[in-house]
Amino acid sequence: MRTHYCGLVDEALIDHPVTLCGWVDTRRDHGGVVFLDLRDHEGIVQIVVDPDNAGAYAALAGVGYEWCLRVEGTVRRRVSVNERVRSGRVEVAATRIEVLNAARDLPFALHENPSEETRLAYRYLDLRRPEMQRMLRTRTRLVQALRRHLDAAGFQDIETPILTKATPEGARDYLVPSRVHAGQFFALPQSPQLFKQLLMMAGFDRYYQIARCFRDEDLRSDRQPEFTQLDMEFAFVDERAVQDCVETLIRSVLREVAGIELADPFPRMTWAEAMRRYGSDKPDLRIALELVDIADAVRHVEFKVFADPANDPAGRVAALRVPGAAALTRRELDLLGEYAGKFGARGLAWMKVEALARGREGVSSPVTKFLDDAALAQVLRLTGAADGDLLLFGAGPWKTVSDFMGALRLRLGRERGLVDNAWRPLWVTDFPMFEHDAAAGRYVALHHPFTAPRVDDVAALRADPAHAVSRGYDMVLNGNEIGGGSIRIHRPDLQSTVFDLLGIEPAEAEAKFGFLLTALRHGAPPHGGIAFGIDRIAALIVGTDSIRDVIAFPKTTSAQCLLTGAPSAVADAQLGELHVRVIATPAD
Ligand code: AMO
Ligand code: AMP
Repeated sequence: MRTHYCGLVDEALIDHPVTLCGWVDTRRDHGGVVFLDLRDHEGIVQIVVDPDNAGAYAALAGVGYEWCLRVEGTVRRRVSVNERVRSGRVEVAATRIEVLNAARDLPFALHENPSEETRLAYRYLDLRRPEMQRMLRTRTRLVQALRRHLDAAGFQDIETPILTKATPEGARDYLVPSRVHAGQFFALPQSPQLFKQLLMMAGFDRYYQIARCFRDEDLRSDRQPEFTQLDMEFAFVDERAVQDCVETLIRSVLREVAGIELADPFPRMTWAEAMRRYGSDKPDLRIALELVDIADAVRHVEFKVFADPANDPAGRVAALRVPGAAALTRRELDLLGEYAGKFGARGLAWMKVEALARGREGVSSPVTKFLDDAALAQVLRLTGAADGDLLLFGAGPWKTVSDFMGALRLRLGRERGLVDNAWRPLWVTDFPMFEHDAAAGRYVALHHPFTAPRVDDVAALRADPAHAVSRGYDMVLNGNEIGGGSIRIHRPDLQSTVFDLLGIEPAEAEAKFGFLLTALRHGAPPHGGIAFGIDRIAALIVGTDSIRDVIAFPKTTSAQCLLTGAPSAVADAQLGELHVRVIATPAD
């Protein structure tokens, strides 16, 4: 149908006949001569149609933007060179034009910036845009490079089921009703976690899969209901072996695909340190701002907002020094307070450090009146405050304060241009095994329930689950959790104990995970692994804020596909076959 790609026609083809296929990117009529830019996935080339060439000229009647054409012609040197494109020194003098398809009533022009709803509803048009093509191609190259490295390193690429049993990763399951077994359901995998562990028990030693995962959870710019993991598992390893292997993998692949140089080795930080210094378990190390704990300075003050959490082991009083931000207006400070409120803050105290040398007089703040001289001096010293700085203070429950101060750190870092233009990876390690869910009155696993504790003694784990540290690790890049994994539990007694501590009754454990507990009794090797978020890595390397840009057909943040209209109602007959009855439909 064609001999060349539009975007690749260049001077080497001068005087050669070519046949090209593509879309009309622009049409300009100049004194009878028609100039078209014809575009395909490689780029554009200029087509010139002269009225002397009656056949081709006639075929152009009505042809316009985004029409799909086949063009025969001869390549010649161009008068006005366009240095921005590869084909910019040549043009194609058309001898024959065939309209392959018209394009009418387009919902938007490709160079416009329509709403994301419109883009998603007509995704095939959106994807015609060179920028979208570039991003998806980079994603392809990323996946190709990952596969190449893993194949070379002897990993087995093994597929695991999509119709399966629930694998808990902390989200709700997508369920699929069984037609054959009335009232029974498959779950779509939240990850291949249990299957990859079983593959290690099956003796495969090293596994990987580019795996689709399904999670019904609150969506954001870095979360989709279905997303893709590079999923990996290793037998007979400790955490260092897994980390060294995948760190090398990520470093090589990002260099190859995007020319990104990552530190060697990656810095490592415990979860406790990350939370303390950055208020986050995925710290963005490009931002130099850090939280400072000031409980010691305010334990004895009258001001209960500070003193109560300072004296409570479950509380936290933290300060954030923002250099040069004393000039923020009251309104701007109020907005920061509102923003912190979204993360659970009850208030946000602040101090503008105007002239340190003048002591109390040199600081303007609604809270200095509650602090005695010693406390104020200690706060200023601990934070390293200098003239012109703004200090923000968070006080309250440890987790809440960490969250909102961490969020403020990110926001102020970005707003004030304090984000270093660099790639800053790190490992976060030593996560707590469990988090206490106050609402549910029980522990939940911070990673997943198959993550091994550091203590591998059942009695020791039971004695103090609140302080148990796990063998989990996350890889973080520029504030994004790009991968997470752990050394797994490979002993049935320890696995049963963890289920028990998570409030899973033995009968429930048997019903849900009996196959795993049984397999652990059949000679399971020590094993561990990790999974990377391919969408997140792709988004980072192409430089977009949203993983939707690197997914060809993503869903909206309300988990819908605007192109196909999924999810949608189905006929009663189909529901009947599946033994399903809809008990309520939301009002239209
Ligand atoms: P985890 O739940 O941390 O671990 O997932 C691994 C990585 O997958 C990415 N990710 C997502 N990307 C897009 N949308 C989502 N909804 C989403 N959820 C997670 C993140 C994350 O780091 N089975 C374990 C891995 C293991 O222990 O080996 C797991 O799934 O980048
Ligand atoms: P209040 O005594 O509640 O009027 O608060 C006095 C100051 O402390 C105000 O500037 C509040 O914004 C601030 N504040 C109140 N609660 C907190 C909190 N939990 N953390 C930080 N600052 C707070």
